[in-house]
Amino acid sequence: MTPLTRTSQWQALLAHRDALSGQHLNELFAADPQRYTRLSWRCGDLLADFSKQRLTNETLALLVQLAEARDLAGFLRRMTAGEAINATENRAALHIALRAEKPYRVAGEDVLPGIRATRARMRALTDAIRSGEWRGSSGASINAVVNLGIGGSDLGPRMAVQALGAYAAPNLAVRFVANIDPAEVADTVRGLDPARTLFIVSSKTFTTQETLANAHAAKSWLGGADPSRHFIAVSNNVAAAQAFGIPAGNCFAMPEWVGGRFSMWSAIGLPLACAIGMSAFEQLLAGAREMDGHFLSAPLAENLPVLMALVGLWNIDFLGAESLAVIPYAHRLGLLPAYLQQLEMESNGKRVTLDGQDVGCATAPILWGMSGSVGQHAFHQLFYQGTRLTPIDFIVPVGDTGAEQEALVANALAQSAAVMKGKTVEEATRQLLAAGKTPAEAARLAPHLACPGNQPSTTLLTPKLTPHTLGSLIALYEHKVAVQGCLWGVNSFDQWGVEYGKQMAREILPKMLSGEGQFDASTTGLLSAIRAWRKA
Ligand code: F6P
Repeated sequence: MTPLTRTSQWQALLAHRDALSGQHLNELFAADPQRYTRLSWRCGDLLADFSKQRLTNETLALLVQLAEARDLAGFLRRMTAGEAINATENRAALHIALRAEKPYRVAGEDVLPGIRATRARMRALTDAIRSGEWRGSSGASINAVVNLGIGGSDLGPRMAVQALGAYAAPNLAVRFVANIDPAEVADTVRGLDPARTLFIVSSKTFTTQETLANAHAAKSWLGGADPSRHFIAVSNNVAAAQAFGIPAGNCFAMPEWVGGRFSMWSAIGLPLACAIGMSAFEQLLAGAREMDGHFLSAPLAENLPVLMALVGLWNIDFLGAESLAVIPYAHRLGLLPAYLQQLEMESNGKRVTLDGQDVGCATAPILWGMSGSVGQHAFHQLFYQGTRLTPIDFIVPVGDTGAEQEALVANALAQSAAVMKGKTVEEATRQLLAAGKTPAEAARLAPHLACPGNQPSTTLLTPKLTPHTLGSLIALYEHKVAVQGCLWGVNSFDQWGVEYGKQMAREILPKMLSGEGQFDASTTGLLSAIRAWRKA
């Protein structure tokens, strides 16, 4: 296949970028009164407005041609056929099947019966916990569930439990421990009663250092309690879970063909199902399913995840953006940026294509963000007057009426409008004069008040944060990531860099104590400082 950056479609986009350059978003809006209508699309209860991006319908048409030339349709066919598109690990990437109601096949086998069986077991378990029927070893009912997992075995359910707090059972605490830092487990179990606490050890491999350390810490905190009443495992390594003391009957399978960061729809979602109940969890799946249906059927030019991916690629590779800020205007979506960080950066933070060649252009953005309106008082200054191009996704659940909620939504719209519109030196001068400044003072201050604007943003609007809309939103980003991976030609489903970091940690740990080992001078120096402090 021709390298991406040498295709005629890429060259056409470069020429188009040059022709468009210098045009301010304000000019693009002035030139086309229909711009919003032409550049916003819906899928169910999600509305995506791309009109504040630095592009036109022609840009999108050229980007769609690029997607066609990279055979996006063929990639989706292979993905949904359960082919091993994760070629470096020889695995399928079939998270879509976890929320499907129709059969999908992996290596010729229909995976739907297994998915349904797991979901039925999830319902039985969560019903038993929530109704008080599940008893700890002393006979007391469970009032706290603590998930022990990290990365994809933590971030999804953790984010969603917070997001759907309005739907959570009031008499059941659902908490999360990820860090190997013993402070997290200590802080998390503080105030909980061991007799009434159930731990879920979530680890696809059941070998992850952090999770195993935390599972052992939980075991000793429980005292001699019967593990079969206080531990559940979600893993595809049942033997290791059993060796830890969790009976097979308490183990939930985690299919091999689902990557950690795409797994919140599987039994990895158990903590969420405990919090909101299995029926609400199924609403989440239904929301994702709605997005899947749209993704797999809508023409590329009207396809929300495809458009999100193309707009992102445009910003990164043609406009030179290095990061993507995600700002949900909903307190409960505060963990969404952290969740998306793993989804986008672990998936597409890659530099070689599937055939081992240099990808030739920039890939995943540095994704960051926090909930609005809090971020306005921290980093929005950089959007207004900093020197960087910073694309933003504003995520806005409209919510109920009420003064505070109206103010929250108004703030979201005001920020997206203001970072786009900006303020010229002339406007600033006029305002200063109107406020009574002398012409000399106004001239001195105006450059400090002026904002260039022209920051690109997408606004994702939804009527309300519900299990259904959250499911659609997450599936939207999942598909965006897969589409971008296809265009860049990278494998979005492995994480060899992370594996290298884990291996290094395993090597350093024993040598930290003994002082042996060959490392770079910095690491050697730091290790000896640590040993000296330990001795002192
Ligand atoms: O962080 C790296 C990673 O490999 C993630 O991809 C994965 O979600 C996480 O570790 C946890 O892995 P496991 O579920 O096997 O404990």
